[in-house]
Amino acid sequence: MIIIEECYSLKSYNTFGLPARARFFAEAGTVEDLRTIVNVFCNDPKPKLILGGGSNLLFTDDFDGVVIFPDLKGNEIISQTPDDVYVKAYAGENWDNFVAYCVSQNWGGLENLSLIPGNVGACPIQNIGAYGVEAKDCIDKVDVINLKNGEIRQFTNAECKFGYRDSIFKREAKDQYIVTAVTFKLSKHPVCQTKYADVNEELKKFPEVNLASIRQAIINIRERKLPAPEKFGNAGSFFKNPVVSMNIFNNIKAEYPNVPSYPVNEHNIKIPAAWLIQTCGWKGKREGNVGTHETQPLVIINYGGATGSEIFGFAQKIQQSVLSQMGIELEMEVNIIS
Ligand code: EPU
Repeated sequence: MIIIEECYSLKSYNTFGLPARARFFAEAGTVEDLRTIVNVFCNDPKPKLILGGGSNLLFTDDFDGVVIFPDLKGNEIISQTPDDVYVKAYAGENWDNFVAYCVSQNWGGLENLSLIPGNVGACPIQNIGAYGVEAKDCIDKVDVINLKNGEIRQFTNAECKFGYRDSIFKREAKDQYIVTAVTFKLSKHPVCQTKYADVNEELKKFPEVNLASIRQAIINIRERKLPAPEKFGNAGSFFKNPVVSMNIFNNIKAEYPNVPSYPVNEHNIKIPAAWLIQTCGWKGKREGNVGTHETQPLVIINYGGATGSEIFGFAQKIQQSVLSQMGIELEMEVNIIS
């Protein structure tokens, strides 16, 4: 079924809860309907926005273009070997419901990505990641529709050019495709990833380590640390963890001997943005209706009634402060839609 609306409120379609409106809003329930929508709008010069769970977006204004909402549901096994299962999930599936389903089948790979907000279709775009695992570790293929001509194609894992919170869909192929489905290669003999200190600690509360206990441990950690979007509007981590040169890192370490870090390669090192933001005095800071979360300052919160441009302005202040105090430019992870 195809639904096309005009001047449509996106308030319930973005986890910041911002009352932005779309000039046109087009929703499709099947891949064929989605192709029809693409054919209707492909020669229209208005900007297009593909909306998933709306959990990584900040509308600074109304969207004077066409919002396309692929409401494609379900999943199916494509093939199996004695060791692996290839399962295709459609773009409109809720991410965490799909992770729960995989865990219930004892298919390993996605359990560390439990409780990440959003839909399946968004997972390859920014290569979602948490607790030592990234979506790219399990993605086999990504099915897409070309927004210019409605053609269908598949990207292999390598063609997606995945990086840390990055893929071809944020670079060369930005705004060119709609993801319709993602095929995951999951293990029938799961190996649990418990290297992350927080996860290891939480798992001690469970009698055994298996996919279900890892999932529950991660749900517990996330519920403690991260604000639920239903309570306070937010889009998870607002900034990426910056990768800096050893020079910059050593300068910071001279002043802050306890600076946390993760090695990237022999020349570069990652510093948690949360630490930079906290050290610059922004942890739990609130200005009007906007603030950083008390236990994870990487998350910016709409305490109610904030506008997108207020949130954007607050984020820019954090960027300026970290730049002037630490000499590091924080990159926004959230997509700014203006
Ligand atoms: N930290 C502080 N102060 C704080 C919180 C954290 O200094 O108040 C420092 C600590 O040194 C801590 C480090 O930051 O060890 C890392 O914190 P955390 O484990 O919470 O992870 P993160 O690097 O801040 C990333 C992802 C999260 C993901 C977690 C868990 C990014 C941008 N964010 O956050 O992803 O859940 O790891 O693996 O990579 C998201 O993308 O929306 C998201 C929530």
